[in-house]
Amino acid sequence: MKSITTKLLFAGTLISLPFLAAAIETLPNQEIQQARSLVKSFGSDLKQVLKTAMQTEGPLKALEVCNLQAKPIADKNSSVSPWNIGRTSLRVRNENNIADEWETSVLQQFEKRKKAGEDLKNMEYSEIIKSGDKSVYRYMKPIPTAGLCLTCHGTKLSNDVHDKVKALYPEDKAIGFNVGDIRGAFTLIKTLNVE
Ligand code: HEC
Repeated sequence: MKSITTKLLFAGTLISLPFLAAAIETLPNQEIQQARSLVKSFGSDLKQVLKTAMQTEGPLKALEVCNLQAKPIADKNSSVSPWNIGRTSLRVRNENNIADEWETSVLQQFEKRKKAGEDLKNMEYSEIIKSGDKSVYRYMKPIPTAGLCLTCHGTKLSNDVHDKVKALYPEDKAIGFNVGDIRGAFTLIKTLNVE
């Protein structure tokens, strides 16, 4: 009985080893640099549009701006880069941003690292995933919740903001955040054909 269990365990290890080896392959440094710089420009574009709208037209109009502009701003940044960039979260507002399996596990990993005391500022994760004749580069970086975000993602939304969020996103899950929480993450992907 014991030897069968041992054999099974051994076989299990052999089978899972190649997956483990693939899972820990991180990106070449220059790819990480590229991903970081795209995150920076996408993030600052978003923040600038949000801040301007909030200051000049208030949160209701800013909600519309986020609703209409988030995707085009992501597309614009992706179009000048070999990467595709977007945002995701464990609790999304827009269902198009729902995390896939890999993103979900990375977001959970970020939460654990934060709990263990790691600063969000330098937190990131990257991995090369091989599938068939393709190599997929993936990179994620957490997005912290700032004071500015609470108007639309906090624990106490004003009635008009709450109603507008519900009207635009009936399935919204992106409220109840506090300053310093991980609101979500930038998620980047680049697919290469392996020669
Ligand atoms: C004026 C309201 C408003 C403010 C302020 C705001 N957001 Fe959002 N946020 C939205 C809306 C609307 C969406 C959905 C955009 C879309 O449809 O793609 C969104 C989506 C997101 C997403 C994408 C994931 C998801 O839930 O769909 C992230 C991440 C995010 N916001 C982070 C932030 C952060 C960080 C701040 C503060 C710096 C912030 N938001 C401030 C309204 C706001």
